[in-house]
Amino acid sequence: MWCDGAANVKLFMGDHFIIRGGYPLRGEIVIGGAKNSALKLLAAGLLTSEQLVLSNVPRIDDITTMIALLRYLGFNVADVSGDGSVLSVGGEITNTEAPYDIVSKMRASVLVLGPLLARYHKARVSLPGGCAIGTRPITLHLKGLEALGGNITLENGYICASTTRRLKGGNVVFPLVSVGATENVMMAATLAEGRTTIVNAACEPEIVDLANCLNKMGAKISGAGEKIIIIDGVEALHGTHHQIMSDRIECGTYACAAAITRGDLRLINGNIDHLGAVVRTLRECGIDVSQTDNVMHVQCQKTLRSTKIVTEPYPGFPTDMQAQFMALLSVVEGTSEITETVFENRFMHVPELIRLGAHIDVQGSLATVHGVRHLTGAPVRATDLRASFSLILAGLVARGETVLDNVYHLDRGYEAVERKLSACGAKIERVQKNKI
Ligand code: EPZ
Repeated sequence: MWCDGAANVKLFMGDHFIIRGGYPLRGEIVIGGAKNSALKLLAAGLLTSEQLVLSNVPRIDDITTMIALLRYLGFNVADVSGDGSVLSVGGEITNTEAPYDIVSKMRASVLVLGPLLARYHKARVSLPGGCAIGTRPITLHLKGLEALGGNITLENGYICASTTRRLKGGNVVFPLVSVGATENVMMAATLAEGRTTIVNAACEPEIVDLANCLNKMGAKISGAGEKIIIIDGVEALHGTHHQIMSDRIECGTYACAAAITRGDLRLINGNIDHLGAVVRTLRECGIDVSQTDNVMHVQCQKTLRSTKIVTEPYPGFPTDMQAQFMALLSVVEGTSEITETVFENRFMHVPELIRLGAHIDVQGSLATVHGVRHLTGAPVRATDLRASFSLILAGLVARGETVLDNVYHLDRGYEAVERKLSACGAKIERVQKNKI
């Protein structure tokens, strides 16, 4: 892969972006539905035979993968709106197996485990395998489901879960905070007999969104968003309609875009309440953030200040915003420090940012970012979802042209990026695969 200017881009593997830096972003961006809520809400549909209608569904590749999984199970998924933004899921499944080729593409597939075990008393779900940002074991999911009476074995790379009778409520104490494990156990517990208590539960807003939807389906969940969640099982759940919360990470990402380009963006459906640590950090750096009704307004005309970030489970600074802030801080005068405590390998964007002229030293989980006066465009490649956007942010301010390859990583979790950015003045275009 090499390039000497847009016209001579050669040998890229997939779709890629060509970005020309130096244009402040100004205007409005509509924030879509939350990927990390929508994926679980789709899995929650398996808990009832009635129709669960979900609106504000993001049009991203991970949703397409989850739809493919549900259909593989025999579940009905209908696009009610015609544009993928409203889905109705329901019906009866014809098999309880989530195959490797789907699960390995998207780890969130493992979240069908709890619903299948609770409703159909069996499930055979492929172990997801590793991913770019870490080994990402799922032992906490399995221990939690065993605490509810699930019999769990691992056979030929698959999780085989079964129960001879209705699951039974129990106490689940997580030794470390896990979003997915909290969600799998919470979903399974809705149909278990008796009370389940989850201790050291994840507190992310997406957990609250899932619990709100489950309660509308007839579940009895209290404490979602806190460290202790209580679920009193019921015999059956029914259908409902649920509007998916807006994507706080997409919102925070575009807030970084406004900041790094010294621009002014109004983020429609952005919710400052879901981004406490992120907004505090933006303000510490000198960025103006305000909320009026459903609009989060981010302005940046001042000289920015360096800062220190430690990623933590919610309500701490979200690991899913770490790469984006690394890009921002790479052009902020002074020395910033970013400590990644959630995943063991989430600095894959560092070597690519360095190719653009960033000055970043990594020692274990600590990245020390020495701000530089400017970045310079170069060919770079995406390694994972959030790293992809950190390279776009850098490209938006780098001198000259940046070509970002492997954009398929980005398409998994961000909708219409080039459209949203171009509408606010960015010079970014997508070059389709094999269309050079
Ligand atoms: C969810 O992943 C999100 N994904 C991630 O977002 C997010 O980074 C993460 O939560 C943390 O907030 C979705 O919601 C689809 P965890 P999840 O279980 O549930 C370890 C993005 O960019 N762990 O909270 O898989 C694990 O290895 C993605 O949108 C175990 O050790 O995360 C990690 O170090 C990336 N054993 C830590 O816990 C387990 O059984 C947190 O993982 C489970 C997790």
